[in-house]
Amino acid sequence: MTDYHNPKLVVQPGKVRSGKITWRSPSNIALIKYWGKYEPQMPRNPSLSFTLDAAYTETILEYGPKMSDRPGVAVDFMFHKEHNKAFSQKIEKFLTSLLPIYPFLSQIDLTIFSSNSFPHSAGIASSASSMSALALCLCTMEDELFGTLSSDEEFERKASYIARLGSGSACRSIFARAALWGETPDAIDSSNEYAIGWGHHLHPVFTTFHDDILIISKDEKSISSSAGHKLMDHNPYAETRYMTVNARLKRLIGILKAGDVEAMGVLVEQEAYSLHGLMMLSNPPYLLIKANTLAAIEKLVRWRDEQKVPLYFTLDAGPNLHLLYPDECASTVKNFIQNQLLTHCVNGAYIPDKVGAGPIQL
Ligand code: PMV
Repeated sequence: MTDYHNPKLVVQPGKVRSGKITWRSPSNIALIKYWGKYEPQMPRNPSLSFTLDAAYTETILEYGPKMSDRPGVAVDFMFHKEHNKAFSQKIEKFLTSLLPIYPFLSQIDLTIFSSNSFPHSAGIASSASSMSALALCLCTMEDELFGTLSSDEEFERKASYIARLGSGSACRSIFARAALWGETPDAIDSSNEYAIGWGHHLHPVFTTFHDDILIISKDEKSISSSAGHKLMDHNPYAETRYMTVNARLKRLIGILKAGDVEAMGVLVEQEAYSLHGLMMLSNPPYLLIKANTLAAIEKLVRWRDEQKVPLYFTLDAGPNLHLLYPDECASTVKNFIQNQLLTHCVNGAYIPDKVGAGPIQL
């Protein structure tokens, strides 16, 4: 077990410096899904994702000596330049939970400005990009104040660990191109506590892969991801899921290395159906896909068969469709999306995205 609890990370009273740190961190799309967890935010199965590019969060963290004698964390949180009470409370709670790791958080005043490259109400989960951006800012602050994270590897591992505590899937956004999170015999350094970079295991065809997101609905989900994870605890099919998902991951690892686009597409669609199947088989059962999700899937499958274009899809815990395809098909697929799929999107909204180079400090 990694133990990041560190009572030594305190600053000498009167010696707190001020600073400003900015990170841009992307969202990610899981090909093998993290679904079901146990305390403290550990995955019940390993997952593997592509890191995205265009969908990101930019977070500015300003810190300085604490001006009040209020105990605990003092944070002012602004989302898209505006105070947001619900988000502020969530961030304060998260930072307070980090005090055993970062005791200095109670000695400083923090102001955090966060904004997303995509509209907040687009129905895109922003927790992966936002929590990874915040974790990166916190690790940079640790290094500025204590000089304790000088190696890139150690920095990424800790940022991934802290991002995971904020939102499980966020731990995968730290790495360029692809990441694997969760213990598996198929990846020696894998861990339930943090993700590891997987970009260097990808065949070149996957390093430029596209993932365009069709915005099928912007409504708030009827069941949140946290509630969905919890429902896996008593899902009668959970055991089968956890018995079979490792073999699927093993196959995907081989496919990603070999560059077999068709095999990858078939596998990720099976995985997307499995995720939504598990939701429908929960107690109580629930459905996150919409009529337009199904209409778009049907069109996509028909078009793929007719045109022989390797266009595949996956779904997160929501109705929005992620379209996966190789770069060489970009213009054909773009025409198909614009002419045939946008009618299934809210106001024709979609986010063209692709595999990206990971977070950057600005
Ligand atoms: O990180 P969370 O708790 O929002 O869970 C994410 C779950 C899925 O998006 C459905 C799958 C995944 O691995 O990203």
